[in-house]
Amino acid sequence: MSEFTYQIRAVEKHDLETVYAIDHACFPRGVAYAKSLLKDLLGSPQACGYVVESPAPSVQKGKSGKPTPFGFILAIRYSPRAANIVTLDILEPYRRRGVGTELMKRVEADFRIKPTQVITLEVSVKNTAAQAFYRKLGFEILEKIDNYYENGEDAFEMFKSLEFQRRA
Ligand SMILES: CC(C)(COP(=O)(O)OP(=O)(O)OC[C@H]1O[C@@H](n2cnc3c(N)ncnc32)[C@H](O)[C@@H]1OP(=O)(O)O)[C@@H](O)C(=O)NCCC(=O)NCCS
Repeated sequence: MSEFTYQIRAVEKHDLETVYAIDHACFPRGVAYAKSLLKDLLGSPQACGYVVESPAPSVQKGKSGKPTPFGFILAIRYSPRAANIVTLDILEPYRRRGVGTELMKRVEADFRIKPTQVITLEVSVKNTAAQAFYRKLGFEILEKIDNYYENGEDAFEMFKSLEFQRRA
């Protein structure tokens, strides 16, 4: 089996088409984000995020030499002490290899530099895999939000207190 290597870089405005395509591969219609919203996020000074990609193949015949993105995370600070994970998407073949955890660690590290007290996120009540993932990272369910998604699905709001983590 070939070695699994990847690189993480900050997301940029020019990643719009890439993150839109990955988001729509990871979520059904009505849960995936509209392109206009992703565009606004990529342009927001309050937002931060990362793209994860396979390194460029060495330039040889038939190979483009470009890295291949296969996941991303977007988060936004919505008050001086609170931030929200807008979305975290890893394409299916690349899951269960620790990449989602690594992206969450990057974003948490960014928010710890500024004194963020709480990170929140919303996850579909049907998305038990992501709920298990976030629970493992220390998130807890705060409440259920009815009809959260455009397609009518309910969501759980989850949170993690970074202050508590620091004192622990
Ligand atoms: C949720 C998601 C981001 C996890 O990314 P990932 O790179 O596969 O996660 P990791 O490999 O870092 O998983 C860490 C741990 O989370 C838990 N976990 C992850 N996926 C899981 C699943 N499908 N079922 C149960 N537990 C899961 C496990 O405890 C896992 O550790 P293990 O593999 O040693 O058992 C990925 O499955 C995904 O992109 N799903 C589609 C989009 C989505 O649901 N995003 C989140 C909602 S906003």
